[in-house]
Amino acid sequence: MPSASAKPDWNALAPHYGRQVWLERNSLRTLLDLLDPGPGDLLLDVATGTAALPAELAVREGHPREVVGVDRSPEMLRRAPDLPPRWQLSQADATALPFADDSFDLVTASYLLHLLDRETRSRVIGECQRVLRPDGRIGVITIAPPRRRVTAALTAPVRRAAERYPARFVGLKPLDPGPDLVDGGFSDVVGRHSLRGYPALCVVARKPAGTAARAD
Ligand SMILES: C[S@@+](CC[C@H](N)C(=O)[O-])C[C@H]1O[C@@H](n2cnc3c(N)ncnc32)[C@H](O)[C@@H]1O
Repeated sequence: MPSASAKPDWNALAPHYGRQVWLERNSLRTLLDLLDPGPGDLLLDVATGTAALPAELAVREGHPREVVGVDRSPEMLRRAPDLPPRWQLSQADATALPFADDSFDLVTASYLLHLLDRETRSRVIGECQRVLRPDGRIGVITIAPPRRRVTAALTAPVRRAAERYPARFVGLKPLDPGPDLVDGGFSDVVGRHSLRGYPALCVVARKPAGTAARAD
């Protein structure tokens, strides 16, 4: 496994990123199935990278009319494919999102939280909670190898590839984001494993109705 402590340089990694997006595809579909965004939902994809999640969403029937994707890395954003009209990508830091409180119906963050230290993760979750409207939902994907031996064997090729090519498989550090989401004020946490491609955990949680955006 690559070192999880080294901070990846996403501008430098951007030219290679597209080569591994197929390993994310099943988990992106699983998350979108759980979240089930509709045409009227305004969705924010935090740390969108090369817009793998918006691209997967764009081919689904009844997708949202408006989607916003943000990422800190201009080189990752530059490699996004063409997306539907009214979908926007822009550069922003997930620890200080440039949006008003309660602005979005849905917020997603795929393959981000397990890369962050605990403090940064808590700030990012706090920002997602702040910009979500009450009763809005968050959907996240993290790396989570299955515990059972049989299913663990299914994901062994990806783990071996990650050991062999650490520069291309950055930060495959397992994380169950459930406790952090609950600490961040979310409820109704549901999760589903995705074992094809990266061994991943797709989790959806709700910002309870009547919750004010947090001030921290
Ligand atoms: C593993 S990639 C995931 C990209 C995309 N979500 C996907 O599923 O393919 C992690 C992304 O997080 C972005 N990122 C890391 N820290 C960030 C932060 N504080 N604010 C915004 N983006 C950040 C990186 O630039 C990179 O594009």
